[in-house]
Amino acid sequence: MSILVTGGAGYIGSHTCLELLMSGREVVVIDNLCNSSEKSLARVEELAGKPLKFYRGDLRDRALVQTIFRENDIECVIHFAGLKAVGESVSMPWSYYDNNLNATLVLTDVMAEAGMKKLIFSSSATVYSAGSPMPLKETAPTGGCTNPYGWTKFMTEQILSDLCRADPEWSVCLLRYFNPIGAHESGRIGEDPRGIPNNLMPYITQTAIGRREKLSVFGSDYRTHDGTGVRDYIHVVDLARGHVAALEYTCGRTGCEAFNLGTGTGYSVLDMVHAFRKATGVEIPYVLAPRRPGDVDECYSDPSKSREVLGWTAEKSLEDMCRDAWNWQKRNPMGYGE
Ligand code: NAD
Ligand code: UD1
Repeated sequence: MSILVTGGAGYIGSHTCLELLMSGREVVVIDNLCNSSEKSLARVEELAGKPLKFYRGDLRDRALVQTIFRENDIECVIHFAGLKAVGESVSMPWSYYDNNLNATLVLTDVMAEAGMKKLIFSSSATVYSAGSPMPLKETAPTGGCTNPYGWTKFMTEQILSDLCRADPEWSVCLLRYFNPIGAHESGRIGEDPRGIPNNLMPYITQTAIGRREKLSVFGSDYRTHDGTGVRDYIHVVDLARGHVAALEYTCGRTGCEAFNLGTGTGYSVLDMVHAFRKATGVEIPYVLAPRRPGDVDECYSDPSKSREVLGWTAEKSLEDMCRDAWNWQKRNPMGYGE
């Protein structure tokens, strides 16, 4: 029996493949490498000391997905594949709806055809409606998204929960990630954004390595302890382990359930700059800049449902996140591109 990981060559997918192999599972990956490198998978195999099976191709290619189900005995699917850049989704909405929704529709249709109806989906804290009280519980209202990327996550959650309502054989976990950062402690796999990073931690590490001049802190007049935006950063290895916990849960039941994967603690942008210096000794030059459109003051989780139901808790500290992110960047100054 194998776990099919869509988008397994990507940032979170590669760390999850490693945790799956380390927990004794067989892993099959489908990825079109539109935002990743096959090198990540070679390094996962090297770290795990065992191979995985890789299909290079697009999840919207029904014939290929059918072939994967024919050639492998799949026990559960972990579905990471998708486009994820918020700004790009505003300028290229069609591509985001096509890629993120059609991929899920083809995948779930082929799964139903094959009679295998267990799925773990990469959702996001972005599905929660603005204005909900913090910390966010899974019962907080969703929707009112501010960009097409967020809508694709919201719509996919809707599609999957409707599937479960219509057919009691389906078992779906919607994992709502907060802000994944960091890298595997080996420094062999990590986050390798193309172009100028949109997210805070890769911008910090690229500034530290000299690829960027300075960090722009987007907004210093938020209603937070120091005026800068507060988020719930979570180590990517903790996040990957959350998928292994969700796998056991998904395989043993039916229905649709949402879980927050976060630490429950919020840190501001300036907290992150200071934590990075403390963990690595590297000072990050920064300027205070205007707010980024669409940003909120603060966003952090209540992770108690994941703890109680999945038996999972984030264990790594902010210092681990900063140290491991820097270790990856130092060892791979140009990511997998070298
Ligand atoms: P990533 O871009 O590194 O990984 C996504 C992978 O999917 C890439 O390897 C890409 O090549 C592949 N892919 C995209 N479209 C595909 C398609 N049609 N067919 C086959 N492969 C395809 O992103 P990530 O950070 O690892 O995120 C993984 C998932 O988690 C995404 O769905 C993302 O939206 C979600 N998520 C990420 C974050 C985050 O901060 N990184 C936060 C919340 C949710
Ligand atoms: C972003 C996405 C969100 C996605 C999440 C995780 C937007 C509007 N939202 O959220 O949909 O689910 O990533 O991938 O893009 N910051 C700076 N300078 C920078 C970069 C970021 O000050 O150069 C600040 C931001 O204003 C924010 C914090 O750092 O306060 C975190 O930003 P980021 O890493 O982009 O994550 P989110 O805004 O939480």
